This record gives sequence, C-alpha cells and structure tokens, in this order.
Amino acid sequence: MTGILISTIRQADAVAIADGAKLLHEGRLVAFPTETVYGLGADATNGKAVASIFAVKARPRINPLIVHVTGMAQAEEHVMFSPVAAVLAEAFWPGPLTLVLPRRPETPLSLLVSAGLDTVAVRAPSHPVARKLIAAAAVPLAAPSANPSGTVSPTRAKHVADGFGDRIDLILDGGSAPIGVESTVIGFDSNRAVMLRPGGVPREAVERVVGPLQTPSPDGPVTSPGQLSSHYAPRARIRLDAHSVKDGEVLLGFGPSAPAEALNLSPTGNLSEAAANLFAMLRALDAEAAAIAVMPIPTRGLGEAINDRLRRAAAPRGTHV
Ligand code: TXA
Ligand code: MG
Repeated sequence: MTGILISTIRQADAVAIADGAKLLHEGRLVAFPTETVYGLGADATNGKAVASIFAVKARPRINPLIVHVTGMAQAEEHVMFSPVAAVLAEAFWPGPLTLVLPRRPETPLSLLVSAGLDTVAVRAPSHPVARKLIAAAAVPLAAPSANPSGTVSPTRAKHVADGFGDRIDLILDGGSAPIGVESTVIGFDSNRAVMLRPGGVPREAVERVVGPLQTPSPDGPVTSPGQLSSHYAPRARIRLDAHSVKDGEVLLGFGPSAPAEALNLSPTGNLSEAAANLFAMLRALDAEAAAIAVMPIPTRGLGEAINDRLRRAAAPRGTHV
C-alpha cells in the first residue's frame, strides 16, 4: 500500500470482486453497487465489522441495517418467512424490495444489524456485482447506503469516495445505480404488509400482489427507526412544488414545461428516469447554490419514493418528518 489518502475505486471485474470478498472476510468494509444505490458492505456475522459501519457512517446505533442475501434460501437461514412474506420475495426478488422479518434465535448474524429489535431487514439485490460479491463472500452482507449518515445517498462510485475519503478499503465501481432510490421496505403486522419506506418497487406493484398496504403509526408495533428523522439532506435549502425560481435559487425541473436551462430530472416526465437522476442532480445543484427550488413531481409509481426523499431533504436537519 502506498499511503494514498483516497479510497481505492476499482472497476468491479472478477479480480476486484474476489479481492472485495477477501477484505470482507478480514472484517473490512467494501462499498459496492446495487440496482438502487451504492451500499457500504460488511460481513453481517462479524460484530466488529458491523460496528465499524456505524462508526464510519456516524450512524445512530438505534438505526438497524439491511442484510443482503442471494435469495430466499440464504435468507431463511437467518429469518422466518410468513406465507405473505414468501409471496413478496417470490414476486420481487432479486430486486429493490426489503422485508423486515423475525430473527431466527440461532442465526449467527450480529445483534447490531437489528439495533435491539427482534427483526432483521433482508433483501436480495438484483445488481450483478452485488450478487457476485455476496456469493463470493459466502456470508450475508450488512449494507446501508454508502454515505455519511444524514447526507444524500450515493448512486455512483465517486459519490462514495466524496463521502468517505480514505476511510473505507475498497469501492467496487459498477457505474450509475440504475434505479436511483433505495429499496421499498415492508414490515408485517400479523399477516398484513406495512409500507415502512417507499422505494424502488412502486406501492402499486406491491399492492397488486398482497392488496392494500398498511401505514405504520409511530407508536404501533411495526416501525422503521430510520424513517423518523430528516435524511438525505443536502446543504442547500430545498423548496418543493416550486412553479418559479426566486432570487438565489437554482431550479430542479421535471417534465417538458421546465425551462430549458434548468437541470431536468426527466424532460419527458418519466418517473423512472427522474428517480435515476434524483440524487446525482441534488448533489450537483448543492455544489452550485444555497437554495434549490424543485418543480412538482407526480406521486404515482416511483414518484412516491422521489417525493418522500425530497420531503426529507427539505425538512430542517434533525426534525421529524
Ligand atoms: O436500497 C437499499 O435499501 C440500500 C441498498 C444499499 O441496499 N440500502 C439502504 O440502507 O437504503 P439504509 O441503511 O440506508 O436504510 C435501511 C432502512 C432504514 O430506514 C432502517 O431503519 C430500515 O431500513 N430498517 C433496517 N432494519 C430494520 C428493521 N429490523 N426494522 C425496521 N426497519 C429496519
Ligand atoms: Mg441510507
């Protein structure tokens, strides 16, 4: 090693993935692409490695982590699937859906991934690099989004390096994350599915499989600690549902009516394209101005997740939204 002070970004070829698996076995952290955003991975059965995720991200210890697996078979070693959970996994895995399920008492998963809860959030990502890395490591990987806690999630390898400098050992570069917003998180109240976080699988798609999703209540039995506070916060102030730009603001546009000079999430009004562009464009505008005005975005499909992230970005830091 040559004392380089930035993280090593490597093209995610077979050799780099094998090196990543080796680092994970040594308890080190490896950032990797998923179809949603980049994750900061650790061996989920190694308590020290999982603890270093919390340290490097400065993540509150009450906020549990998603455990990434290759599929149902590996997940079933660690959590218990109800029939409705199994139906959802069959419908959407591999893909951007996370299921919060009861821990098996005998699981070797670190207790830290659950942050004191008796559940584990599990997901099987579809991104080929993520799948190869989990398979090569041969252990489940705890992986939050690879950004310092409270900042905008990374959709490119460079975003990860910008956030962590030299504090992680390897960043596997798999290009831009194609979906661009984090996974949909579903919990269960008895047998009813509860929407804990809108994300990469639209609500409508989940509801076609299991019927209407429940909404969590803050003091109900099924909650998601990470959803309580403001998140995804750029430095700039964010003003939503803007129809014009005020002095000192830059515009984040959406659709054909946006001015041609504005950054546009999707000139044709395509919500998948808008989700894929969201975090990179927020980062670009954040570097440019102290205030960002965002045009209205429909709430259907991926629009629910986009609006959720924008609302959190617009909330004052540390507040509850
Ligand atoms: O798309 C994604 O989900 C990305 C990629 C890397 O897979 N990961 C991600 O992780 O977004 P993170 O840590 O940034 O968000 C995980 C969310 C948090 O809101 C957390 O509170 C919730 O999932 N969560 C994790 N475990 C949970 C549990 N046992 N019960 C309830 N919520 C849980
Ligand atoms: Mg996150």
